[in-house]
Amino acid sequence: VPVLVTGATGVVGRALVRRLLASGGEVRAYVRRDAPELRAQGVKVAVGAADHEGRLEAALEQVHTLVHLIGGPAPGPGATVEWLNLETTLVALRAARNAGVRRILYLAPLGADPSASNPFLAVAGRAVAAILASGLEHAVFLSAPILAPGSGLARLLEAGVPRRAAGVRLRPIAVADVVEALAAADAREAEVRGAWELGGPETVTLADLARRVRRRPLAGRLRRLPRPLVATLARDQLADPGAALARFGLRLTPLDEALAELEADRSS
Ligand SMILES: NC(=O)c1ccc[n+]([C@@H]2O[C@H](COP(=O)([O-])OP(=O)(O)OC[C@H]3O[C@@H](n4cnc5c(N)ncnc54)[C@H](OP(=O)(O)O)[C@@H]3O)[C@@H](O)[C@H]2O)c1
Repeated sequence: VPVLVTGATGVVGRALVRRLLASGGEVRAYVRRDAPELRAQGVKVAVGAADHEGRLEAALEQVHTLVHLIGGPAPGPGATVEWLNLETTLVALRAARNAGVRRILYLAPLGADPSASNPFLAVAGRAVAAILASGLEHAVFLSAPILAPGSGLARLLEAGVPRRAAGVRLRPIAVADVVEALAAADAREAEVRGAWELGGPETVTLADLARRVRRRPLAGRLRRLPRPLVATLARDQLADPGAALARFGLRLTPLDEALAELEADRSS
């Protein structure tokens, strides 16, 4: 039964699409501009604006699971953080309900909470609340920062961890593990309803991480990164993945392995 991924061109979306194709199912993507690299892999691509409910609903015909991966702390020109994270989720929920989709999967930042003072965490919290109240089957994953080429955390390590954030503690998780959680939540025969934290196997500080990938530990090239991205990463994020591991039968990639993959990609 088909799965549709929004945000399929992003860091998590690309990895998820590869994972879903590998298990043999029909994979659809809903993207804002045509994506030949997805078509070349065998993905059925539908093009439309993230808030075009009618287009999305048409693309969702016969779909079992919608994975909504459009979002993030730093919207591009012409979008707001509320539109990107909350409005697109509300549109996705309406389109999914009208198209008869059974299940929606969503990846939120750890700490997403409508009452958070960080605007990104607040709108992501409202998006999560809307999903939990939607009546659709759902799995919401509240994830610690993800290790993958081009991810926010990888970009922060590349730019240099700011001195004031050196002691921030987190449990970074490999993108492969996040994708495994999403794939398992899609594949489950039984009903799924809930929110689970995701995080990696080790707690480290940002300064530890920078040392382990031999990047300049403390540097000043942050101006290259959007401020809201830095604000989202420069806070403790100690996810407890125990419940997700048990429910979805996951095994976490060791941190050294995830960092080695990041390095291999960087030098290739
Ligand atoms: N990465 C992490 O550490 C992390 C941790 C927790 C939660 N999450 C959440 O997981 C989701 C996916 O994260 P990611 O790291 O894969 O993000 P990403 O690499 O930035 O991908 C974002 C996706 O959203 C799409 N998008 C952005 N602006 C758009 C717009 N104005 N209209 C239509 N589409 C737009 C992008 O499409 P284009 O390719 O066309 O730009 C891309 O497919 C996000 O909601 C994020 O908040 C991520």
